[in-house]
Amino acid sequence: MMTILEKQIEVLKSEVPQVTDFFSDYGIILDDGGFTLGEYLEQLPEDFYEDIGIDQVTLLENLDGFLNQLNLLQNTEAPKVSEITIIGGHDKTGNPEHVELKLIRGSVTSIVGPTGSGKSRLLADIEWMAQNDTPTGRIIRVNGKKPDPELRFSLEYKLVAQLSQNMNFVMDTKVAEFIAMHAESRMIENAEAIVVDIIAQANLLAGESFTGQTPVTALSGGQSRALMIADTAFLSTSPVVLIDEIENAGIDRKKALSLLVKKEKIVLMATHDPILALMAEQRLIIKNGGIHKIITTTAKEKENLARLEELDNKLMSLRTRLRSGELIEES
Ligand SMILES: Nc1ncnc2c1ncn2[C@@H]1O[C@H](COP(=O)(O)OP(=O)(O)OP(=O)(O)O)[C@@H](O)[C@H]1O
Ligand SMILES: [Mg+2]
Repeated sequence: MMTILEKQIEVLKSEVPQVTDFFSDYGIILDDGGFTLGEYLEQLPEDFYEDIGIDQVTLLENLDGFLNQLNLLQNTEAPKVSEITIIGGHDKTGNPEHVELKLIRGSVTSIVGPTGSGKSRLLADIEWMAQNDTPTGRIIRVNGKKPDPELRFSLEYKLVAQLSQNMNFVMDTKVAEFIAMHAESRMIENAEAIVVDIIAQANLLAGESFTGQTPVTALSGGQSRALMIADTAFLSTSPVVLIDEIENAGIDRKKALSLLVKKEKIVLMATHDPILALMAEQRLIIKNGGIHKIITTTAKEKENLARLEELDNKLMSLRTRLRSGELIEES
């Protein structure tokens, strides 16, 4: 699989000019000299990494995060996707997955299963449009066809907006600048108003509020998650939205989901939360790395969802009280 490491630096710089800034923050001046990015990073002396205080693996992870953040908002011309198909590979033991699952625009699918069962892996297969070249052997089709390799590896027109489980900001900017950069790269007309809206929405999802002047690196896990959710909801044009566990960030997950679920998108969401799982019209049960079952949410389950939500609201109000320092002593 062609990775960013195999890209010629010259090509990379012309596709994503922002990488120059990313590397210069680490004191790396990317002069191509005909290198691929991988070759270039390899030939840096060992003590170089000591000097910048992170190793190559972390540097690459940060780069991936950086590109992901750019991508979330940089695909104004993403081609139309009306469906994606997941063609089964095999589970962790090598047993075949007998699955051919079509996901259409406007659908929300949840992914459930124990910790370590392979939920994030499935999302990653879709993000990368796996072609039997990931640990699961799955194949992803877009509009019934093998995706065009250019589309697959394009850094500009990613089909997928991914809200990953671990999202760290690696850029050194203020919240408002960060969002404005995204809005501008989408050539949105009323960018300023949108920036204000996004920050307000993010604050509705998160706990303690932050402003446009807060540095992104000072945001908490939940706050960054909330910001990226609001940002994706308002600015992303990706036809496919992948969500990996919104619930753990302590943000208002139902509000977050309703922001993200827009009619025209294909939404997949890995979750441990029964309410979120039942809000989807179908769920994939993952076991030992494979898609074990596909269940359509039943009418009875939808009814029960209302009861679960009542319970949940009670728990939430307990949480709010605990957080504000009250005692929970009533019997
Ligand atoms: N079919 C498979 N074949 C081989 N390895 C797999 C397969 N499915 C998943 N894995 C591997 O299993 C590990 C755990 O998977 P993953 O991170 O997707 O779990 P998860 O369900 O997201 O867990 P959590 O709920 O803790 O987030 C990963 O290293 C993943 O690559
Ligand atoms: Mg996971």
